[in-house]
Amino acid sequence: MHNDIIILAAGKGTRMRSLRAKVLQTLAGRPLLQHVIDTAKNLENSHLHIVIGHDAEQVKARFTHEKINWIEQQQQLGTGHAVKQALPAISKEGISLILYGDVPLVSVDTLKSLIAHVDANSMAVLSVDLDNPKGYGRILRNAEGKVVAIVEEKDANEQQRAVKECNSGIIAIANGLLQHYIHQISNNNAQKEYYLTDLIGLLAADGKNVYAIKASSEAEVQGVNDKKQLAQLERSYQRLLADKLLVEGVTLIDPARLDIRGNVQCGMDVSIDVNCVFLGQVIIGDEVTIGPNCVIGSLGKKVSIGHGSEIKANSIIEEATIAEHVVIGPYARIRPGTQIDKNAKIGNFVETKKSHIGEGSKVNHLSYIGDAKIGKNVNIGAGTITCNYDGVNKFNTIIDDEVFIGSNTSLVAPLTIGKTATIGAGSTITSNVNDNELAVGRGKQRNIQHWTRPQKK
Ligand code: UD1
Ligand code: CA
Repeated sequence: MHNDIIILAAGKGTRMRSLRAKVLQTLAGRPLLQHVIDTAKNLENSHLHIVIGHDAEQVKARFTHEKINWIEQQQQLGTGHAVKQALPAISKEGISLILYGDVPLVSVDTLKSLIAHVDANSMAVLSVDLDNPKGYGRILRNAEGKVVAIVEEKDANEQQRAVKECNSGIIAIANGLLQHYIHQISNNNAQKEYYLTDLIGLLAADGKNVYAIKASSEAEVQGVNDKKQLAQLERSYQRLLADKLLVEGVTLIDPARLDIRGNVQCGMDVSIDVNCVFLGQVIIGDEVTIGPNCVIGSLGKKVSIGHGSEIKANSIIEEATIAEHVVIGPYARIRPGTQIDKNAKIGNFVETKKSHIGEGSKVNHLSYIGDAKIGKNVNIGAGTITCNYDGVNKFNTIIDDEVFIGSNTSLVAPLTIGKTATIGAGSTITSNVNDNELAVGRGKQRNIQHWTRPQKK
């Protein structure tokens, strides 16, 4: 038997003041709804239904890679009405879990414990104690402490408003009960909406068990309505991710100045300086040092950095495989398709793209290396450029082991330079160079004697 997970995401999100649907706003680089979907996928054996309304097409288009039963709610008549739209798709037995597209950080463990409280005759509400409960539905208990109802803020009297135990909105309920009681919900309330929360009162009045289970933190049930809340949640989530790295033994010079938009895996004795941003999948080996202001990785891509390598300040690594004891930067830009072998050095203002830089080779200053294969122990002089593009097509440059390229050289691809060849500084190299040759491709120097400088008239 499977469980059903229903994610409500039909709301408009006016307060975001954005052309983008609310649930597509990003937290740590991922849409809010993606966070919820990823959490739902961690609950085994469940079917995922998502109720959409505003910006439905935009939302669906973003998740074509997921297995989702999309349900359209034409008019947003309340959370109870939204869940009702999903009923035909829900199994007769089992449990339904109701989540929200704009409550991104609820944990898998919390949801598992919520579900564990529910049997065929009960439901459970995820609650949170708030010092400032404004806007939340309040959980009402009787003299014995049993949950008897949830009252929305707008329908609550003064005494009820003083209650600090709040409804997160997330509930788990036996499908049999959901199917029976949802039809009894009316819109006879302050907002003229069908409140899902009315289920609590209906079940309790019929002698069913209703449990309120406390969330493990406030951030876990925090919803996002505007950019200010989004920014606050981003900070608390980032802090959580930073703390996780600290627990794993990573040195963070300032855990408040680190951003992770993806997944960072670190070995032992990794040190990360301030203002680094990590994107996509980043795998960092033992004893790697990352200087300040580095951007490492890109969404959906992978970067790996080997043992003992050092990334100096202000470097950008988009997608690359970097071996052990490599030094990169400061101010380097490593673009997709770069592979750097051990002990190689990429210095300041060097850009690489789709290139393989062999073991021990150096590209120390001001170079562009694109579509190139560079062998071992090659020295690329300052200002060397691979001219890989003729305006239409891209061409490869192959440089064999031990080659020395003088400064300010243009290597016009397609081009092959043989082993231990030498290129004179300032050359424009347009044809292949054989092993051990010296190639010089520049105008001969002329010295003009008795030259008189122009005089001012
Ligand atoms: C709801 C709860 C309240 C709880 C609070 C927590 C109800 C009646 N109240 O109030 O007890 O404390 O959440 O944040 O459930 N939605 C739809 N279709 C609709 C209406 C809403 O999909 O017709 C979605 C919205 O997109 C939103 C979510 O459901 O993501 C919550 O709806 P909202 O109207 O914001 O409920 P609250 O008033 O916040
Ligand atoms: Ca809300």
